Amino acid sequence: MKTEPAVLSPEETSFLVRQRVARLATADGAGEPHAIPVCFAYDGRLIHLALDEKPKNVPATRLKRVRNILENPNVALVADRYSEDWDLLAYVMVRGRAELVKPDREEHVAAVRLLRGKYYQYEKMKIEENPVISIRPERVASWGALDAAEGVEPLMDALLGRRSVRRYLDKEVSEEAIQKVLEAARWAPSPHGRQPWRFAVVTRYETKMRLAEAMGEEWRTNLEMDGQSAGVVEKRLEGSRKRLLDAPVLVLLCLYLEDLDVYPDAVRQGNETTMAVQSLGAASQNMLLAAYSLGLDTSWMCAPLFCPHSVTEALGLSQELVPHALLTLGYAEGDPPKRRSRRPLDELVVYRD
Ligand SMILES: Cc1cc2nc3c(=O)[nH]c(=O)nc-3n(C[C@H](O)[C@H](O)[C@H](O)COP(=O)(O)O)c2cc1C
Repeated sequence: MKTEPAVLSPEETSFLVRQRVARLATADGAGEPHAIPVCFAYDGRLIHLALDEKPKNVPATRLKRVRNILENPNVALVADRYSEDWDLLAYVMVRGRAELVKPDREEHVAAVRLLRGKYYQYEKMKIEENPVISIRPERVASWGALDAAEGVEPLMDALLGRRSVRRYLDKEVSEEAIQKVLEAARWAPSPHGRQPWRFAVVTRYETKMRLAEAMGEEWRTNLEMDGQSAGVVEKRLEGSRKRLLDAPVLVLLCLYLEDLDVYPDAVRQGNETTMAVQSLGAASQNMLLAAYSLGLDTSWMCAPLFCPHSVTEALGLSQELVPHALLTLGYAEGDPPKRRSRRPLDELVVYRD
């Protein structure tokens, strides 16, 4: 156990800012304690908490934590990690003085921005109308494996467990699961944060059929142009058609370039588009991993890239959307027959000191 009078150490700071929830302890003038879980954001100097649970017509100043702070500004905030692996246990406890920062103060704007940056849920809540609690740390105590990599195993499980599935059970995917998968895409990194992608979700058989037929026609032309025999063409078309029709859900990933920066030269404009394509890949991977962690399976089909106009026409999409890929979504019929092995890291990485 380490107790130090100074501000937070780098280890304590990096532990604290990764936590999504902490416990705030206050006491009233008579020393009666009160502790509650809170969302918080730390700006490197102060810890800020929003007041968001105000029932209608009740001023935020009626909340017990606020009344306590007004009577006695000494507070403690503890953020902790629990794990069944006790080598990972850790906490940081900050003691300091809390202040109620009213909306008319400049610091309030910055605190609200910080809190909204950390918790997207605050974007839709009127936290700017209430005071913010700002705590100035005076003493810090911490313990345990502050630096341990947390939560990596479930992510590695999804990264290594995900594989392309090309045959699905006839089992419906819930609307809720589809929404979660799309939500995962929304959080992908993108150039300038512009999210240059749009998604079309297809579940109805008739629509899948229309799409499969439109894509099939164009593919037939291409295969014939490549000199493939009629038998091979039919076989490949039938395989691809079946994949689309048998997948419970199709998500079409389109590039949407309208919000990107515009440059006078072709090189930079080309780079801007490349960045958009890169981030479409990131959005796609987010979906694949989210689906896998929800117990769903996926595969990635590049076909729309080769027949974008047929796809937009079949689905009645705006011309500004450029189809790039199709994800199939469902429950695997069985273990997929093959999975590509991977090159060892030493073939993929060079180190330069
Ligand atoms: C950009 C891209 C395009 C792909 N297009 C197809 C495709 O058209 N058809 C297909 O069956 N798989 C497609 N895949 C899936 C790859 O074949 C697959 O990810 C790879 O073989 C590794 O196997 P795994 O996903 O099971 O790990 C595509 C993957 C990527 C990233």
